Order: sequence, then C-alpha cells, then structure tokens
Amino acid sequence: GGAKPLAGRRAVVTSGPTHEPIDPVRYIANRSSGRQGHAIAAALARLGAEVTLVSGPVTIPNPPGVTVIRVEQASQMLEAVLATLPADIAVMVAAVADWRVATPNAEKIKKQPGEGPPPLMLSENPDILKTIGHHAKRPAVVVGFAAETQDVENNGRVKLEKKGADLIVANDVSPETGIMGGTMNSVKLITADGITAWPELSKDDVADRLAGWIAERLT
Ligand code: C5P
Repeated sequence: GGAKPLAGRRAVVTSGPTHEPIDPVRYIANRSSGRQGHAIAAALARLGAEVTLVSGPVTIPNPPGVTVIRVEQASQMLEAVLATLPADIAVMVAAVADWRVATPNAEKIKKQPGEGPPPLMLSENPDILKTIGHHAKRPAVVVGFAAETQDVENNGRVKLEKKGADLIVANDVSPETGIMGGTMNSVKLITADGITAWPELSKDDVADRLAGWIAERLT
C-alpha cells in the first residue's frame, strides 16, 4: 500500500456516555456503548492519523493505535478535548449528558422518613461539539452525530448549522432499531450540500467509510 492518507494529521474523537454524579455513589447516564466512537478512532488511526480518543465510561476495550483519555463527566470531556487542539479533525460521537446535577451531594443522600424523594436540580452541560465548531482553533473537519428518534433529517440539518459542523451523521436510535448498544448502524450523512443515505452497515464499516470521507474532504 502507498502513503496513508491521514499521515501527519491530528484527530480528536469523543465516545461513550458521560456519567453525571448525583452523590458519591449515584449518577445520571445513558445507554451509549462507545462502539461507534471507538471504531471511528481506530479507523482514523488505520489511515495514519495521530488520534486522541476522549472516552466516557465504557466496558469495551481501548482501540489499537490510539491515545485514550478516560473521563466521567461532560465538563471533563470538554476540558480534555480542548487540550488536544490544534487538531485537523474532530469527530464528536459521545452521547454527552445534556444536563448534570447542579450541586452533587458530597455524601450519599439518605432516605428521610416522611420527607419523600429529594428534588434533583439540573444544570445545562457544555456542548462540546458546538464549542469546537465555533472555536478559534476549529479543526478543518468537524463531524457530529445526531441520535434521533424522530424527524432524523430535519433535526440533522438544524444541528449542522447550530453546531458549526461540516458533517452530521444522523441515525435513528428508536429502540426497535437496536442501534444503540448494538453492532449495526444505519446512517444518513448531512452536509451543506445535501443528504446521503448509507446502507445498513456494521459500526466498523461505518467507521471505515467515515474515515475515508474525512480523508477525502481534507485533501
Ligand atoms: O444536540 P445533540 O446532543 O443531539 O447533538 C449530538 C452531537 O453533539 C453529537 O455529535 C454529540 O457528541 C455532540 N454533543 C456534544 N456535547 C453535548 C451534546 C452533544 O459534543 N453537550
């Protein structure tokens, strides 16, 4: 094989869920497995990129050939991503929690007889993709994902604009699709030029195709 198309390029990828603490033993989370994000990090590395993967808590192995930074919370994920700049490529795949508990309890919250359940006050988390998409050191190629259960195409288009991304990879995560937590994915690519639907592919194949798309876009 000839020269790798992403040799000398730096990439940052986010993957997995975030865990937002309620108290020292409880947290708010979501069902993201990290499979798609980890596969993309590996695929970019195979094309020669120097990849930093910023991963939330996952149970899958670290992908080969990639520097992995493990974080728990959205705030830590943002900090780790910003620390990788400048980069040529950002692919934000993590299912970042939209909200965190405003003031996590320092001690385990105890049941208070007669008082009922404690209220949980939430604060908005930083939007990592949006921050990167509008950053002074914005990477040349910024890619986001859109996990939707309805109106996938329209929501993707709105997201492209709002987040300052070059590409939104939209997928339908309705429970009946089995995509979230599963190994297969069925995606639509949304750019300023329009929409391209890919056939149902394994998450590894989506990752390879996406890495190819990014390499083409950069050259
Ligand atoms: O707005 P929504 O969460 O649907 O956008 C999805 C895209 O934005 C994904 O690429 C996700 O990784 C990214 N995102 C982020 N930080 C957030 C929320 C979403 O990077 N706080």
